[in-house]
Amino acid sequence: MAKLSVLLVLLFLFTSSLCCPEDQKQALLQFKASVINATASSKSLGVTFETWNFSSDCCNWDMVNCSSRFGARTVIALDLYSLVVAPFWYSKVLSSTILTPLFHIRSLTHLDLSASGIHGELPGDGFANLSKLVYLDMRSNDFNGPIPSQLFHLRYLEHLDISFNSIRGILSGEVGSLSSLRALWLYGNSLGGNIPKEIGNMTKLQELNLGYNNFFGIENVIPLHIGNLSNVKDLILSLNQLTGRIPSSIQNLTELETLNLENNLLTGEIPSVLFNIKGLKDITLNGNDLTWNKNAKIVPKCMLVGLSMNSCGISGEIPNWISTQKTLYFLDLGENQLEGIFPQWLAEMKVTTIILSGNNLTGFLPPLLFNSPNLSTLLLYQNNFYGELPDNIGNASELRFLMLGRNNFSGKVPESISNNYNLMILDLSNNKLSGQTLPDFSEIPTNLSPVTRILVLGKNKFFGSLSGNLIMLSRLEYLDIHDNKITGELPDSLSQLSNLEILNLRNNSLQGSIPSSISNLRSLRILDLSRNHLIGEIPTMFGNLVGMIEKPNKSSSFLSFSIWANTPAGSFPSIRFNDLVVNWKRSIQGLSSHNLNLYTLLDLSMNQLYGEIPASLGTLKALKTLNISHNNIFGKVPTSLGDLVDIESLDLSHNKLWGSIPQSLGKLQQLTILDVSNNNLTGKIPIGGQMDTMINPNFYANNSGLCGMQIQVLCPEDLSPTNLPNNESKETWFRWEGLWIGYSVGFFVIVGSLYINGYFVPVPSTRRHQQVWQWK
Ligand SMILES: *[C@@H]1O[C@H](CO)[C@@H](O)[C@H](O)[C@H]1NC(C)=O
Ligand SMILES: *[C@@H]1O[C@H](CO)[C@@H](O)[C@H](O)[C@H]1NC(C)=O
Ligand SMILES: *[C@@H]1O[C@H](CO)[C@@H](O)[C@H](O)[C@H]1NC(C)=O
Ligand SMILES: *[C@@H]1O[C@H](CO)[C@@H](O)[C@H](O)[C@H]1NC(C)=O
Ligand SMILES: *[C@@H]1O[C@H](CO)[C@@H](O)[C@H](O)[C@H]1NC(C)=O
Ligand SMILES: *[C@@H]1O[C@H](CO)[C@@H](O)[C@H](O)[C@H]1NC(C)=O
Ligand SMILES: *[C@@H]1O[C@H](CO)[C@@H](O)[C@H](O)[C@H]1NC(C)=O
Ligand SMILES: *[C@@H]1O[C@H](CO)[C@@H](O)[C@H](O)[C@H]1NC(C)=O
Ligand SMILES: *[C@@H]1O[C@H](CO)[C@@H](O)[C@H](O)[C@H]1NC(C)=O
Ligand SMILES: *[C@@H]1O[C@H](CO)[C@@H](O)[C@H](O)[C@H]1NC(C)=O
Ligand SMILES: *[C@@H]1O[C@H](CO)[C@@H](O)[C@H](O)[C@H]1NC(C)=O
Ligand SMILES: *[C@@H]1O[C@H](CO)[C@@H](O)[C@H](O)[C@H]1NC(C)=O
Repeated sequence: MAKLSVLLVLLFLFTSSLCCPEDQKQALLQFKASVINATASSKSLGVTFETWNFSSDCCNWDMVNCSSRFGARTVIALDLYSLVVAPFWYSKVLSSTILTPLFHIRSLTHLDLSASGIHGELPGDGFANLSKLVYLDMRSNDFNGPIPSQLFHLRYLEHLDISFNSIRGILSGEVGSLSSLRALWLYGNSLGGNIPKEIGNMTKLQELNLGYNNFFGIENVIPLHIGNLSNVKDLILSLNQLTGRIPSSIQNLTELETLNLENNLLTGEIPSVLFNIKGLKDITLNGNDLTWNKNAKIVPKCMLVGLSMNSCGISGEIPNWISTQKTLYFLDLGENQLEGIFPQWLAEMKVTTIILSGNNLTGFLPPLLFNSPNLSTLLLYQNNFYGELPDNIGNASELRFLMLGRNNFSGKVPESISNNYNLMILDLSNNKLSGQTLPDFSEIPTNLSPVTRILVLGKNKFFGSLSGNLIMLSRLEYLDIHDNKITGELPDSLSQLSNLEILNLRNNSLQGSIPSSISNLRSLRILDLSRNHLIGEIPTMFGNLVGMIEKPNKSSSFLSFSIWANTPAGSFPSIRFNDLVVNWKRSIQGLSSHNLNLYTLLDLSMNQLYGEIPASLGTLKALKTLNISHNNIFGKVPTSLGDLVDIESLDLSHNKLWGSIPQSLGKLQQLTILDVSNNNLTGKIPIGGQMDTMINPNFYANNSGLCGMQIQVLCPEDLSPTNLPNNESKETWFRWEGLWIGYSVGFFVIVGSLYINGYFVPVPSTRRHQQVWQWK
């Protein structure tokens, strides 16, 4: 009997020690209920709580781990990441109050809440309960407010990640109390103030990432105390507004492997002692105002894999010591004032990415460069390189991005370029290239890789006709051959380049009519055929150009692959193509490649097109610029043009249009330029909306009988017998002038707001998003 009861007691102890404590189970079930409730309406739940049921042991549930130390089992780890599916990560699905039950589980050492769509302040009191936490990951949510000081007193905490949230306030010096911390990630928040010097107290720290915040305090310098972080391997302070010098104490970071200080306001000399740190692998200093001590004899003790000093104001020759860095695969010295030639030693180094664009380098390209089996990205645009492109260019079989625009290269494009199977971007624009291979466009397709997405050959001396074989470049998204000497007709087969978004053939010698099959190009958003010798009518089918009907997709595909994916530390050099040069709002402008997806344009001007304006053009609701000026277009202006709701610039000038300007244009809220001059138009200029601001008389000049307030010509219908007397009409003019002042103020307000919206000052907005996805 005694034996049996002992057995029973043991059995009881055994089974109870198997199960998680009842209160912890209850807390978890409560958490489950509120998550399921909160995600129900949006169907955003990204995990299954199937195993979380009342009658089973919570230690066996998914996402839950227990420890069985000291006989009893307790929940120690919760892996609650991606509670919601990806598109809802930043969309405030769950309130931070759903965490409340979890704060009862005081035995927790590991809590992962990353990418779970949680918003609201970090519950400080709650976290104070979790005093055993070692690992806390809350990245990619929408937590806001300051970091509660209770978090800084979690004395066992080794890993704290709150990256990609909306945390504000200053970073308190209390952070220095986290004396066990090995990794602190606060990347991508809105923390301001100074970086506290107490950061130097966290001497166990191996990873410190405070990048992409807003540190801008009075002493917004990198604190000297950073030199106390003797264990730090990754130091990332990029994308802040840090000023001052890179502190010399940085030489004390003997374990440093990755240093990223890019896009701050740092000044002064790059400390050459940096290169004495043996383990240093990757340096990124892009976008600061640093100088390079040319006299400092650098004998590096490090062996770098990546060196990025884009836009750092570096002058002189490409530093020689780089040749000792045998493991280097990423070199970005773009946008500096470097002079001299492309060093032979660099050509021999088998680097994967070489960015030297925007310097003042000169001379020939060393052929050896293209014998590298590793070369993938070569960006040399905007320099003074000259001579012929090396014949062995095709030996670089890994080459993906080749941008040599804005140099002084001449001669043929080597035939071997057909061996560059991986070439996605080829930019040879603004050189003096000509010759037999590319110039004869019948050769292009067989000569380029079918993976080519972007082909930019504008401003050269290429001639010959566009071959029907162009369709071999089936992935082509961007074709720019403007300002060359292309002749012949537009091949019908062009319509098979189904990914084409941008086609610029401006200023060539194209003949024949525009094939209406072009309207099959569903992605085409920018079509510039101006300044050619095209004849025939504007195809009615153009009304089917889907890319000009629907608003451009923000994540337009052609910039979706990123050169910076190659960078060792996820840094992003500012890669730019040459701007797409088009006639935008009556002046030739470069549209920045960073936000080309803002623009939708149809330019057929300066040809010999005739026939009427197809009414179907009115369906192109996404068009921002329509230019059919300087042709022989006749007939009436279709009323349907009033449906072009996004149009900002409409140029119909120098044609043979008659009849009146349709009243429907008064509906166009975005219109800032309307030119109908040099036609045969009559009648009253429409009023209302933006039409009231179209008051430049030159844009109405040389017609047969336009009238209206805009040009100060009274229309017959406005001359009622009662206001014929002189006095009355004078008063009318007076009022109109008064109105003008009002209107022009209105106009400037509109232009001003466009400025503010970054319309004319393109901002590289895609980069940060890119980063988000890349880091997740
Ligand atoms: C579920 O959510 C609704 C609001 O969406 C709330 O009114 C209700 O109280 C919640 N129920 C539970 C059990 O949390
Ligand atoms: C709970 O889970 C167990 C096994 O996992 C199952 O047998 C039982 O039916 C479940 N209970 C409920 C209420 O879903
Ligand atoms: C939880 O346990 C599983 C299985 O033993 C293990 O793979 C996982 O890493 C553990 N998670 C944590 C956070 O300890
Ligand atoms: C802390 O835990 C205790 C139970 O252990 C609980 O009563 C209390 O509400 C918790 N505090 C917070 C803020 O959740
Ligand atoms: C940081 O360390 C210093 C000693 O080096 C100490 O005086 C100070 O209290 C510490 N600060 C924090 C916040 O731990
Ligand atoms: C931390 O760094 C500062 C500035 O370099 C220095 O004065 C101080 O002695 C360092 N503290 C420790 C504990 O190393
Ligand atoms: C580097 O660290 C040593 C002690 O470890 C200290 O004496 C020295 O001042 C530090 N140097 C700098 C520049 O901070
Ligand atoms: C580029 O270098 C040439 C000499 O090689 C010099 O004449 C020219 O001024 C330099 N341009 C710039 C912008 O530094
Ligand atoms: C170049 O590529 C070869 C193999 O393709 C590889 O073994 C080597 O490490 C690469 N070199 C560099 C510097 O990346
Ligand atoms: C490079 O190309 C040339 C021909 O253009 C060829 O003769 C040579 O063997 C190639 N070299 C390498 C290393 O592939
Ligand atoms: C371009 O190269 C040609 C020789 O090919 C030379 O005559 C000319 O001066 C160069 N132009 C510039 C701007 O460097
Ligand atoms: C202009 O239109 C009038 C009729 O509206 C017509 O008589 C005249 O011939 C036209 N002129 C031109 C150049 O088309």
